[in-house]
Formats: sequence, structure tokens, C-alpha cells
Amino acid sequence: MDSYINHVDFFKGNNPEDIAREYGTPVYVYNEDVIRAHMKSVAQVITKYPYTANYSVKANTNIHILKMALEEGVNCDAMSEGEIRMLEAAGFPYDRIFFVPNNVSREEMQYAIDRNIMTSCDSLSQLEQYGELNPGGKCAVRINPGVGAGHHEKVVTGGKKTKFGISESDIDEIFKICDKYNLTIAGINQHIGSLFMEPDPYLDAVTNLLRIAKRFDNLEFIDFGGGYGIPYHKLDDQPEYDMESFKKRLEPIIDSFVADYGKAPLFKSEPGRYCVAEGSVILGRVHATKDNSGHHFIGTDIGMNVLVRPSMYDSWHDIEILRDGKPVSRDSLTEQNVCGNICESGDLLCKDRPLPKAIKGDLVCVLDTGAYGYSMCSTYNSRPRPAEVLVKSDGSLKLIRKRETYEDLLKLM
Ligand code: LLP
Repeated sequence: MDSYINHVDFFKGNNPEDIAREYGTPVYVYNEDVIRAHMKSVAQVITKYPYTANYSVKANTNIHILKMALEEGVNCDAMSEGEIRMLEAAGFPYDRIFFVPNNVSREEMQYAIDRNIMTSCDSLSQLEQYGELNPGGKCAVRINPGVGAGHHEKVVTGGKKTKFGISESDIDEIFKICDKYNLTIAGINQHIGSLFMEPDPYLDAVTNLLRIAKRFDNLEFIDFGGGYGIPYHKLDDQPEYDMESFKKRLEPIIDSFVADYGKAPLFKSEPGRYCVAEGSVILGRVHATKDNSGHHFIGTDIGMNVLVRPSMYDSWHDIEILRDGKPVSRDSLTEQNVCGNICESGDLLCKDRPLPKAIKGDLVCVLDTGAYGYSMCSTYNSRPRPAEVLVKSDGSLKLIRKRETYEDLLKLM
């Protein structure tokens, strides 16, 4: 496809140049319809049995996006007290929050216990801590599924090499700790990793978790985790994650478990990226161009502080070049390195990528930045974090997070 933003009318008739002038660059621009459509889709992954989708808010905690989840009937999982606080601010009731932390302090765990938020313990030592803090209580345990998947070694969360979850071989120890503190295990959860387009490893992990589930009596819920991918190569016509065929393959696995277990607990999944990634782009300005020993560099204000995924994981994000607010045709492409304004040679959005030739003053539009974009922003090089703007369903624009200021950077010192 020549232009994704034109294909879906991402800005709903607004000129991106006007958005960039009004709100400044770099700026995250979200599309409400795209986000809501993805949330609706995850809410329907299982229809035959009791099911809730938990949006994994680490992907994006903007309160206006959390409110969309609330309205779409999607629950949420939180990784930290901070994420719980964001959900509280968005108006989420505590029984729609699942706390899935890793290595938390007694104080952080207590914060969830005080609010009666279902908490998952992801090691025996955290389960022991839970028992000390809330004897007689009810919690969940995170099982390490033994298999992992993901777009990069750094985002694989299942399997022997990761820090997450309790191994199957330690399940007897779970029961001992439960006896010691009179705990009830209400649910089990897992997460194999982030971003797969082929569902096989996930389905294997579901099968495995359901086998393990049979060792627990009277589970109230079983959570299969997130990880559904989105097409980051959409300009090369990469297809969407095939949710329909995934659902068709998931259902018989669950049928067979329910028949054996004798009842259907509440099933859950935990998608983060799938809900929000395609719902945002970043607009940045080209401030300089240069040739260095045969390599052409496009210097923008989208540094690794604004979007860290390419430098952290070598992640691919499609890029459109906009001139006077319109995508420059991809009929003629030249290899270019699009970089930011940060003092690191790894501060690159792409390396030697065939793109329409960009010139100073153009806008660079980076696609699929709604997940792990703003939520991983930093103020490195003392650059204030960008603004976030929402293109609402009716086409109007709303500033949903102000640009950070230099005063903000100074106010804690
Ligand atoms: N549940 C748990 C326990 C998780 O650890 C994660 C992601 C999710 C759910 C949601 O996974 P998703 O559906 O978004 O793949 N920063 C990386 C991704 C890290 C994901 C960490 N855990 C990236 O930018 O690709």
C-alpha cells in the first residue's frame, strides 16, 4: 500500500501539517476509532465460555485510552502501583483490575491488597510475601509456561531463560505455602511473550496451562496472557493477525479442558499491543539532511527518547514522508537513515531504508506507535516528553496529554 494514513483516513480529514503546527512536534496522534475497534475485537476472543479481555496497560496508560477500555467492557491488567493508580484515575473499579507484578515490595503488594485487587504472585517468594501480608486471602499464581515467543529475545517471557513465573516443577511448593498461610488460589495466569503473528506457540502454551490447571481445584479463572501481533510492515501489505482463525483453533482446546475439569472457569487474555499499537502515529519534523560516506541521514526531532523501540529491539516501524501534509509518493525510493536529535549513534528510526526522498521541513510520520511508544518515553538529553493528541470519532481533535515543559523537568530538584 502506498500510504496507510490515507488508506484508513487516519487523521479524519485533518491536515497533519495543521496538527503539527498547532501542537508542535514531535507529537503522538491517536485515532479513537482504530483503538476502539481493536478493543472490541479482543473482547470477543472467546464467546462460548465466560471470558474477559484484560488490556495490558503497560502498552499505554494514557487515561483517555484507559477510559475507552472501560467503556468497551475490557478489563485491565496492571504491573505496578503506578499503573493501578492510572486505572483508578480513569475510573476503573477494583474488581476490573488484575495486578500482575514482578518482584514487588511489601508496600506495593499491600497497596493492591488494601483495595481487594486480585493479585498474581510470580515466584514462590512473592507468594510467601502475599501469605504474610494477607493470611487467609485469595490470590493467583503466574505459571512459567515453559515455552516462549516474541519479536525479540528481550520480550520473551516464558521458558527456562526468563525471570517470570513459577515453574511447573515447583507447583507442590505452591500448595505448601498455601497451607502455611491458608491461602486460596483463585486463578492461574501466564504470558509467553510479546508479538507473535502465528498463534501456534500461544496455542501450545494454552494447552500446557490447561493441563497444569487440572492440578488446581476450583479455579475461578485462567488467564492465557497477551502477545497478539499487529502488522508493522503494513506498507508492504503484511496481513493483520488472523483473529478469526485463532479463535477457531482455540475453542476446541478449551472445550476439551472444560469437559475434563467439569466446569468452565472465567477465561482471560491479556493483550496490550493489539489494543493500541495501530491506533497511533508520531509526527516529527525534518530539521536537517546530510550525506555521510555514502549514507543519507534524515535528522528529525523523533529521538530515541520519543520512541525507543527501534534502538532497543531493532524494531521496524513503517515511515511515511509528508510534504505540505500529504504523503510523498513511494514510486521512487532512495535508501535513507532516519534519525533523531539524541547524542547516541543508535538514535535511529531506520537504517538504509528505501523511502521517498525527504527534505528539510517535511514531516516524518512513524506508524504503529500506540503500544510501548509513549509509555517507554524518557527525558534523555533533558528533552521534555511529547504531547499526545486524539482524533476523536467525530473528527475533532483533543489534546490528551500536554507536552512536558522545561519547568516540569526542573520541578523535582
Ligand atoms: N501480560 C503480561 C504479564 C506481560 O508481561 C505483557 C507484556 C502483556 C500481558 C502484554 O503483552 P502484549 O499483548 O502487549 O504483547 N516493550 C516491548 C514489549 C514488552 C512486553 C512486556 N510484557 C515492545 O515494545 O515490543
